[in-house]
Amino acid sequence: MDTPKKVTVPSIRAMKGSSRIGMLTAYDYPSARIVDAAGCDIILVGDSLGMVVLGYPDTLSVTVGDMLHHTRAVVRGNQRALVVGDMPYLSYHISIEESVRNAGEFIRAGAHAVKIEGAKPKRIETIEAILSAEIPVMGHIGLTPQSVNALGGFKLQGKNADDARRLADEAMALDQAGCFSIVLECVPAEVAAIITERVSCPTIGIGAGAHCDGQVLVYHDLLGLYDGRTPKFVRRYATLAEDAKAAIGRYLEDVREGRFPNEAESFLVAGVAEELKRLYGSREAVDNVVEIAKAQ
Ligand code: KIV
Repeated sequence: MDTPKKVTVPSIRAMKGSSRIGMLTAYDYPSARIVDAAGCDIILVGDSLGMVVLGYPDTLSVTVGDMLHHTRAVVRGNQRALVVGDMPYLSYHISIEESVRNAGEFIRAGAHAVKIEGAKPKRIETIEAILSAEIPVMGHIGLTPQSVNALGGFKLQGKNADDARRLADEAMALDQAGCFSIVLECVPAEVAAIITERVSCPTIGIGAGAHCDGQVLVYHDLLGLYDGRTPKFVRRYATLAEDAKAAIGRYLEDVREGRFPNEAESFLVAGVAEELKRLYGSREAVDNVVEIAKAQ
C-alpha cells in the first residue's frame, strides 16, 4: 500500500490561493483515524474537548495534562494530516518561559504545531518566543472562547468599524510574527474576506463566511454527536447521536428478549460439558446447547 504524503506546515502555507484547506477537530484514537482517513488536511486537538468530550460548560477548565493525553491518542490514530495541539487557558498567559515549555510538551506529545488564542502585543511576544523554539504556531482571533468572560459571552466579533479594524490589525500582527495560519472565529464574512486578502498565511474560518482559505468545524457538531447548543454556523452532515441511541435501543431489546447472543455469536465446544452434566444434571436449555455443540 502507498504511504500517504504527509501534510506539513510548508504544504499548508502553499495551499493559500490554490486549494481550500479542510480542518476538523479530533480528540482520541478512533476519531483521529476517521478524520485522517477521510482526507482532512489539519486535525486540531481542540480545547473544545472540554465541552464535547469532558462535559464542562466552557473551555476554561481544560488543563495541559488533559490536552496532552488527548493529543497523544490523536497522534496514534493519525497518518497523514498535520496535527495541531490547542494550548489551553493559562498555559501561555503566565510567562514566556512557561509558555515555550508548555508548547514544547505538545511537540513531545507528537503534535506538529500549536494553536494560541489572541493577538495583543504581549501575546505576539509569546508567539515569537514559541516560534523561535522551532514550534509552528496557528493564530486564533475573533471569538476566542478562552476569553468568554472578558467578551461577555460567545458572540459575533468585529461588528462595528473599530472592532473590524482591530481584527484586521491583529491578523496582520500574527502574520508578520510568523504564524503559519490564522483561525478566524465568528466574524462577519466581509471582514474575514478582507483579512484573507491582506495576510500572506492561510486563514481558516469557523463562522467567518466562505472567503477564508479553509474551514474548520468541531467533529461532534459535524456528525451530530453533541446535543448541546450548536451555533448558527454549524452544518450537520450526520445524526450519529440519534443513530447510536437507536442502535443501543435495539441491542437492549435483543438482550431482554433473549435474542442476543445467538449461536454464531457464542463459543460451542463439543464434549466439554458432558462431565459437568453428569455431575450436576441440567435443564432443558443446557441440553439444547450441548446438542448443538455436538452437531457442529
Ligand atoms: O477548540 C476548538 O475546537 C477550536 C476550533 C473551534 C477552532 O478552537
